[in-house]
Amino acid sequence: MKALVTGGSGFIGSHVVDKLRDKGIEVRVYDGIMPTYRKDIEYYQGSILDITSLGFAMHGIDAVFHLAAVADVKDVYNDPYRSESINVRGTINVLEAARNAGVKRIIYGSTTWVYSEATQNQVDETTPLHAPTHLYTATKLTGEYYCQSYSKLYGMDVTILRYGIPYGPRARDGAVIPIFVRKATNGEPLTIAGDGMQFRKFIYVEDLAEGNVLALKEIGKNKIYNLDGKEKVTIKQIAETVKKILGDVKIEFTPARPGDFSGKEVSSDLAKKELGWEPKISFEEGVRRYIKWYKEREEKRKADWDKTDEVLKK
Ligand SMILES: NC(=O)c1ccc[n+]([C@@H]2O[C@H](COP(=O)([O-])OP(=O)(O)OC[C@H]3O[C@@H](n4cnc5c(N)ncnc54)[C@H](O)[C@@H]3O)[C@@H](O)[C@H]2O)c1
Repeated sequence: MKALVTGGSGFIGSHVVDKLRDKGIEVRVYDGIMPTYRKDIEYYQGSILDITSLGFAMHGIDAVFHLAAVADVKDVYNDPYRSESINVRGTINVLEAARNAGVKRIIYGSTTWVYSEATQNQVDETTPLHAPTHLYTATKLTGEYYCQSYSKLYGMDVTILRYGIPYGPRARDGAVIPIFVRKATNGEPLTIAGDGMQFRKFIYVEDLAEGNVLALKEIGKNKIYNLDGKEKVTIKQIAETVKKILGDVKIEFTPARPGDFSGKEVSSDLAKKELGWEPKISFEEGVRRYIKWYKEREEKRKADWDKTDEVLKK
């Protein structure tokens, strides 16, 4: 069995690659940038906007995990046109290249943001969806629809996974946990808008990656699964967890910002029942793992600069 992971150099994709390799599945990464977390992976450099290059990358592939996207909502907001082309046209390119190559299985990385306009607070895969406000969500939802059309029209087996908010090693620096950790390690206070009681569920990225691999099961064909965390974590708890691990950190409260998203309760029961998937890592343990990774990265960066300094002195 050989899998192609688009976006395999990114945060979630690189963990999916690790989990696939752990299970003895061969992997090829298709990404615009080289994988940096391990060197033993076959890599095709290319854009998902280039269907010819995608076609070459599909050769000998049994399953495609399609995760390449403009994944940061802020980037989508700032550059909607480019984001739409990558998230929407890029997705149909992946589907079409897979169809031409006879690939039968596609796993698509979507988001629980598709529920943001739902009228109820408790949501599952059967919850009716409403037109999304955010363009990011519109592009991801369009990707879901294209996957479903390819499944129905061309008999391609597709699994749509709606990810919750992932965190853990390799997370992008602009997310809330990395920001708190960076500030805390720099001796800056952690600021919370409002009383900090607004909750989110976070999903530890290795648990999320495990769910991606389990979606390959026969029962996962042509299904949608939510993969979200179990614990409700308030912003205040995030700050307190970082403080507990790093110590000597000030937490400050600022006035609430208008329109802060209150969050939905997303059920992942179906993934548990059918795929046998459940998050295993507690929030505190996940934050500890992130901090360990963050410190090692910062130390390595500093050591690299020191080495460069030494070389330049000669
Ligand atoms: N991170 C989140 O909060 C989150 C939440 C829900 C769903 N998702 C979805 O999960 C997937 C992965 O997200 P992530 O957080 O790992 O993002 P990421 O930005 O870390 O990784 C995306 C990868 O896609 C690659 N890529 C972007 N444009 C490309 C192109 N045109 N051609 C080839 N490669 C390209 C990037 O180089 C990068 O390696 C995305 O589809 C995203 O929409 C992310």
